[in-house]
Amino acid sequence: MPVGSFSYFSLWRVAFSLRLVRNIQNLALVGFMGTGKSAVGRLAAESLRFEFVDTDELIETECGMSIEEIFEKQGEAVFRQLEREAVIKLGQRQKTVIAAGGGLIIDPANLASLKTHALVICLWATPEIIWERVQHQTHRPLLRTDDPLGKIRELFAVRDPLYRQADVLIQTGLRSPREVAQQVLHQFQLAQQ
Ligand code: S3P
Repeated sequence: MPVGSFSYFSLWRVAFSLRLVRNIQNLALVGFMGTGKSAVGRLAAESLRFEFVDTDELIETECGMSIEEIFEKQGEAVFRQLEREAVIKLGQRQKTVIAAGGGLIIDPANLASLKTHALVICLWATPEIIWERVQHQTHRPLLRTDDPLGKIRELFAVRDPLYRQADVLIQTGLRSPREVAQQVLHQFQLAQQ
């Protein structure tokens, strides 16, 4: 419903970006595969004395299947639906550090939902650094192709603008998980002030 050239939706977006409708109780880490969300998340949770949850682990526990099995037997679309359901349930949590699966932000509703209760921090790295980190790991179904670096570049090109909608973006390139965790904690403290 427009108010002059301004819609209620725009007003809501302004209120949202000013954090007027946010209740930041949690910390959510988003970012591409291999950017260190779980390692950094565990360190941050330890320092904050928060619980740590990883959306992939939540889904695996709920389904009694590994992510690889879900992709293989039910397909990516079912996995994405399970991710959406996991994100909705996270809204009930407090004092939790959440490590989000790398593709969770594909659905903008997931990011919007996380932002209502969490400070959302994106851990960022270039496709080449990501490849260096993940090339010896075998558990990611999307990278089981003849050209995994090409696949990383392709996914990255689509997802990068979405990762950039996080509240904060932290470069992880040459930093250890401990250094990145320090930055994450600093940003979380600022957001609480
Ligand atoms: C995915 C990332 C994985 C996992 C699944 C799909 C993606 O999580 O959710 O393999 O689409 O980027 P990590 O980012 O923890 O590796």
